[in-house]
Amino acid sequence: MSHPLSAVSQMLERNQALFEGKHLLVCGALEDEYPRDLAGIVRDLTVFTTDYSYFRGQEEALGERIVFGHELGGAPRFDALLLLMPKAKAEAQFLLAMMTPLLLAGADIFLAGDNRGGINGADKLMSPYGGKPVKRDSARRCSLYHGELSQSVPSFRLDDWFSQYQCQLGDTQLTVRALPGVFSASELDLGSQMLLASLPPLTGTLLDFGCGAGVIGSVLAKRNPGLEVTLVDINALALESSRQTLAANGLTGTVLASDVYSDLPGCFDQIVSNPPFHAGLKTHYAATETFLAEAPRHLNGRGALTIVANAFLRYQPILEAAFKQTEIRTMDSKFRVYRSLR
Ligand SMILES: C[S@@+](CC[C@H](N)C(=O)[O-])C[C@H]1O[C@@H](n2cnc3c(N)ncnc32)[C@H](O)[C@@H]1O
Repeated sequence: MSHPLSAVSQMLERNQALFEGKHLLVCGALEDEYPRDLAGIVRDLTVFTTDYSYFRGQEEALGERIVFGHELGGAPRFDALLLLMPKAKAEAQFLLAMMTPLLLAGADIFLAGDNRGGINGADKLMSPYGGKPVKRDSARRCSLYHGELSQSVPSFRLDDWFSQYQCQLGDTQLTVRALPGVFSASELDLGSQMLLASLPPLTGTLLDFGCGAGVIGSVLAKRNPGLEVTLVDINALALESSRQTLAANGLTGTVLASDVYSDLPGCFDQIVSNPPFHAGLKTHYAATETFLAEAPRHLNGRGALTIVANAFLRYQPILEAAFKQTEIRTMDSKFRVYRSLR
């Protein structure tokens, strides 16, 4: 079933003569099926995404033309780049720095997005790569900018893009490494701190769902030697951050891409999470509701789910419907830690 195109994609569709015959690389905030329509117009198409759910949805139609990961390498080979503006400016800078070394000299650089999402900062974003971009179109709060790669660009070094900080949780000290746009990239979330403070010693196998920079799984692995941790996220930048956080602390764990439970092997003794939420974004609620409602099927016999959530989020009824027993372990004016047993 095809869904209506976003306002940004409709604007791109009106301007698609710009992409005709190009060796085109598309990346950024991909949200609908429009990139696959481009396959019939361009000479060749590569779609790069850090979003595992988008990748899974398009993999069948695009085959090898879609790449999921935290880095796209190789020799310069594209003569056009289309960046769909991600919400975080740091992520847009990161993607441009990664993609421009893959462009041939003089390549077209197109930036498209919602005016509320930073697209009008296109001039600044483009300044390390070329002259001032031209605004090609603007309608329904979206804009399309067009510039050209006219400066030589340094090769991309992933390591330069990690932020790093230390945090202390009780007796456990942790080094956190995070790529741009990853949750808790610059400081530890208060909810995650409350969750970690409320957990007893743990044994067996543990799933850190929505691991972000890997703080929860890493602290628990450090505190509980012998605990086997699996960290999953939908975002490739989060997954690479988690791998690096584990490694920076001399820890081992399994790090996997999964959209909720899509790619999870087996069951766990513990599931722990500061689950995704975004006021107003229905998709995040839907993922978290599925995560909570289906958790019992991914827990061993006496397994437990422990989550932290903003006090205004109504997760308790979902937990009570799915589990035999649910209690609030700790709470303050902002957060609640729930623990549910099957
Ligand atoms: C609130 S953050 C928590 C990050 C980390 N656990 C911490 O405490 O700092 C939620 C995480 O869930 C991830 N996420 C969002 N939707 C997801 C889904 N459908 N499946 C798996 N992970 C998802 C996001 O990428 C994000 O890293």
